[in-house]
Amino acid sequence: MNKFAIILAAGKGTRMKSKLYKVLHPVCGKPMVEHVVKQVELAGADKIVTVVGYGADAVKELLQDRVQYALQKEQLGTGHAVKQAKPMLANQEGVTIVLCGDTPLITERTIQEAMHFHHAQNAKATILTAIADDPTGYGRVVRDENGFVVKNVEHKDATTEELAIKEINTGTYVFDNALLFEVLEEVTNNNAQGEYYLPDVIELLKNRGEIVTAYQLSDFSESLGVNDRVALAQAQNIMQKRINREHMLNGVTLVDPDNTYIESRVVIGEDTVIEPGVFLKGKTRIGKNCFVSMNSEIIDSTLEDNVSVRSSSIEQSYIDKGADVGPMAHIRPNSRLGKRVHVGNFVEVKNSTIGDDTKMGHLTYIGDATLGERINIGCGTIIVNYDGKYKHHSTIGDDSFIGCNANIVSPVEIGQGAFIAAGSTITKDVPANALAIARSRQENKEDYVSSLPYMKNQ
Ligand code: UD1
Ligand code: CA
Repeated sequence: MNKFAIILAAGKGTRMKSKLYKVLHPVCGKPMVEHVVKQVELAGADKIVTVVGYGADAVKELLQDRVQYALQKEQLGTGHAVKQAKPMLANQEGVTIVLCGDTPLITERTIQEAMHFHHAQNAKATILTAIADDPTGYGRVVRDENGFVVKNVEHKDATTEELAIKEINTGTYVFDNALLFEVLEEVTNNNAQGEYYLPDVIELLKNRGEIVTAYQLSDFSESLGVNDRVALAQAQNIMQKRINREHMLNGVTLVDPDNTYIESRVVIGEDTVIEPGVFLKGKTRIGKNCFVSMNSEIIDSTLEDNVSVRSSSIEQSYIDKGADVGPMAHIRPNSRLGKRVHVGNFVEVKNSTIGDDTKMGHLTYIGDATLGERINIGCGTIIVNYDGKYKHHSTIGDDSFIGCNANIVSPVEIGQGAFIAAGSTITKDVPANALAIARSRQENKEDYVSSLPYMKNQ
């Protein structure tokens, strides 16, 4: 039996009050429509058609060839939107699942269950419903005295009696494919919004004597439709709980899961401990037995096993095993910290490679540099990488010692085992094993203070 899916994603999302099209708003770092596509893919559809309109190019850019596209030029309603997939699907045997691109919490499991239910009931249409504490804005599912589904009525078209119904249309359906497109022709826009409503298909099929059923979800949270930023925050919250729970079940300790923000693509190893206020974003991968303390932000980065990050910010960088960062350090894009590297408080590293066992404990800037292994970078060392116009690169060899408050004016090369005296401003290369002192010598003036005129009479 063919399994098709249609995802509706052509609406503008006026209620979001945003330049970004609604279905592209991220929930836990992933655009809403991509969450829906992912679940449909897991459920195993033979063909997925996404109906695009507003922001069509952006949606295509996001989903690429994971789906096929039908263009809805004018947004005349959900029924009209589904009709745009007709040239791609009509007259084919099979079932079609229709989902909205703004219901990011729907799961593969629910899609599967709804399909089984649909087949078991021998139905031509199954509408997924849920009981909402506050059904405001949703379509209401009207049942007859025997509990059979009669129709869906939109909030704006509902009578006072219908508004009291708590069972809502989640916006997900299973249809007999051929019948769906046949009956869609009969849907009119004679309603409060002047739109062609997809759920009207339910009543039309019912009137034809076809079997129409409702599959009620036990948990409302999957059905949340995001129409505004309030619902976006709710969806984010529910999705975050799911993600965090998954990590905890996989062996990650979240000290306060309600205040830990992990995006959907992030991978974390066992026995890693994460404190509250932490944001892990993008394609971040964290190894086993790591520690990420409060208020850290890690974006698109890799941390190997046994790394410790304390209250720091890391972007697009790689941190090797056993390294430790922070507190209050900033690792900027394209940096690579070797094994057991120590980056202490108020250190910034940018576009630099740091060899194994190199240490920089405090107040340092390393930009556009390549550092070897086992180097000690003294407090306050600065790589002076920018001349006002261009950025320059410096290299520091293995086992060298950079004294406190040195300025390394790039481009220079400091050889292996070199020793840079504290306070030096290095503008020339330093050979291996050499001592470089680049500061004026200390001069002591004997009895200078007592010779001052105003000191004389004291
Ligand atoms: C819709 C349902 C409502 C249900 C709710 C669940 C209808 C008429 N109403 O209402 O019964 O309770 O979802 O969340 O279907 N879209 C298009 N083209 C259009 C219009 C909409 O592609 O012309 C897309 C939107 O991008 C969106 C989805 O369809 O992803 C739903 O549209 P929306 O306007 O949000 O419908 P609701 O008013 O939420
Ligand atoms: Ca909606």
